[in-house]
Amino acid sequence: MSWIRETELRLLERLTANILKAGPMPKHVAFIMDGNRRYAQKRHVERQEGHTQGFDKLAETLRWCLNLGIHEVTVYAFSIENFKRSREEVDGLIELARQKFSRLLTEQENLEKHGVCIRVLGDLTLLPEDLQQIIAKAVVSTRAHNNDVSEALLSQCLYSSNSPNPDLLIRTSGEVRLSDFLLWQTSYSCLAFQSVLWPEYSFWNLCEAILQYQLSYRSLQKAQELHKEGQVLQQMEADRTCVAELLQHRGNGKPMDAQSRQTALLNYTASREERVCCFLNALQHKRDTFLNDLSSQAVVA
Ligand code: IPE
Ligand code: IPE
Ligand code: MG
Repeated sequence: MSWIRETELRLLERLTANILKAGPMPKHVAFIMDGNRRYAQKRHVERQEGHTQGFDKLAETLRWCLNLGIHEVTVYAFSIENFKRSREEVDGLIELARQKFSRLLTEQENLEKHGVCIRVLGDLTLLPEDLQQIIAKAVVSTRAHNNDVSEALLSQCLYSSNSPNPDLLIRTSGEVRLSDFLLWQTSYSCLAFQSVLWPEYSFWNLCEAILQYQLSYRSLQKAQELHKEGQVLQQMEADRTCVAELLQHRGNGKPMDAQSRQTALLNYTASREERVCCFLNALQHKRDTFLNDLSSQAVVA
């Protein structure tokens, strides 16, 4: 199945989407797609079939998000813990990823049309090398596709580089935990835990989660603002302490006038920002080189 489905919303879905869009909408939604095996058991199908249908549901959900104007989606597809599952299941999941990412490489035109930009968060080196190469090719070849929202909101976030934090995180299957997914990035996100199994996820489930986001929007905004203010104050305090120590050291304890203190503080802040910028650039360069090298080695069947 294609990564991007061309289906449009039905009338009632379109109406609901328009009503929701009158309120604040999440720009970035994260999904913990849980419940594939329980779904397989419930439907009396092979476990691998549950995972395959889980992928199909992802393609469908991406389309709903696009219809709802949500341009950034992050999904939890495989955790380090998941390597502890049986060899057969892990191999099946890796093979599914191999097939789906290879398929993605054949859909460049469609991806470009919708401005899809793929990023993979996590340690790629844990995967088989051929899969690493295919994924790297998917990332590198969609890098230039323009996603207005993420470009406009370009942040300096390290782990999920170039991505703003998710506004809404959804976990399916009734499990109320994060299983190590985006712990830092979701500390001020709306968390929606839904009992539906991932392969059975519907447009209405997504609307319900968005409504939950809208109902908690004000309190989330307030908490985020307070947190940001706190961060700025903390940084200012840290800069002041550093400058005071430096001046004490340089001036052998002699008192300094307010003007010189202020100049020293400004210089210190500018040099810190420059250091941080250099560090982020070097990190980005390292990641880009890793992906570019891998992607140029990819041989796609
Ligand atoms: C989530 O579904 C998909 C992956 C972790 C790959 P599960 O495989 O965890 O299915 P359940 O939660 O056991 O039903
Ligand atoms: C859920 O994985 C996370 C993913 C979808 C990758 P699990 O279903 O294995 O999570 P836990 O171990 O039950 O929390
Ligand atoms: Mg699970």
